[in-house]
Amino acid sequence: MTVRPPLAMLAELTHRCPLSCPYCSNPLDLARKETELSTEEWAGAFRQAADLGVLHLHLSGGEPASRRDLEELVATARGAGLYTNLITSGIGLTERRLRALDEAGLDHVQLSLQGTDAAMADRIGGYRGGFDRKMQVAGWIAEIGFPLTLNAVVHRQNLHQLPEALDMAVRMGARRIEVAIVQFHGWAMQNRAALMPTRAQAEEARRIVEEARKRLLGTLVIDFVPADYHEDFPKSCMGGWGSTGLNIAPDGTVLPCHAAQTIPHLSFDSVRDRPLREIWYNGAAFNAYRGYDWMPEPCRSCDRKQIDHGGCRCQALALAGDAGATDPVCARSPRHAELRAKADAFAAGSDETLTYRSFAPAEPA
Ligand code: SF4
Ligand code: FES
Repeated sequence: MTVRPPLAMLAELTHRCPLSCPYCSNPLDLARKETELSTEEWAGAFRQAADLGVLHLHLSGGEPASRRDLEELVATARGAGLYTNLITSGIGLTERRLRALDEAGLDHVQLSLQGTDAAMADRIGGYRGGFDRKMQVAGWIAEIGFPLTLNAVVHRQNLHQLPEALDMAVRMGARRIEVAIVQFHGWAMQNRAALMPTRAQAEEARRIVEEARKRLLGTLVIDFVPADYHEDFPKSCMGGWGSTGLNIAPDGTVLPCHAAQTIPHLSFDSVRDRPLREIWYNGAAFNAYRGYDWMPEPCRSCDRKQIDHGGCRCQALALAGDAGATDPVCARSPRHAELRAKADAFAAGSDETLTYRSFAPAEPA
């Protein structure tokens, strides 16, 4: 198959974050500050990415504002010709820092929303005062004139706030909102019982989004990530493995997707040891699930394989114990009925206890 250059790169600048959302997609084993790439190492990675053909750079974390050199990193990426998007909770950004980021050439901001009021947002984010601070940051973003996207992760505990989240996006002058029903990777997997939406909630969310798309046409673009476990067909995860994008973890490990390290038989390269171009084209992990040759039945002879690429490899591992299996979200998977039953059982529970994201306690010296 012909391998094309990647279009987008997600740089997880750090796993440090003042918030501790229970659905964080970061791995359970978070990278510590001392392992993070230096300013120069990130700069080198950005230049290599631009050379490779990457157009969009998403600066993420953890909380990217936890990096003191964020402004410098944005300037370097912009200088390399990359479109820069900052994915942030807003915590750690002051008006002064935002103006410096504007001067450095930052193109776009994505602000996360944990809830539409302080009680919900601060409980889900595990950070008191976070919501008020975020609203202040949203005001500065509007004043400076950054194009803004809101990222609202919704789940059983906050889905009733979806209409208000859409109204907030309009009031804030956002151009786009991503309404993502929680996806069960990373920390969210630990919280399935507390976060799984009911099937009725998942359907209602779709209806609300469809109605709002018509009403707000020309004002607000709404992206929607449906409730995976309640669907009949899987999402095209990463637009196909190793086909349009790549991630770099805080320590320089280059990954085909944010959860790829959960697949134990894959081995990953680091930008510290190998050029990004070589990793993209020849890296063992990137070639493991590229194209269609790896597919089992029913995917191999399926008319949808070019649409969803067999779903998500990490989810297949988590739910079927085999990263090479058909994603059990698919109604054609032999495991689909089992998954449906599991989803309904989680959704019917009343336990709202959250396991918050945290660094593992340090080993005793
Ligand atoms: Fe997609 Fe495979 Fe299901 Fe076909 S069988 S719809 S390719 S996941
Ligand atoms: Fe890894 Fe979907 S998250 S392939």
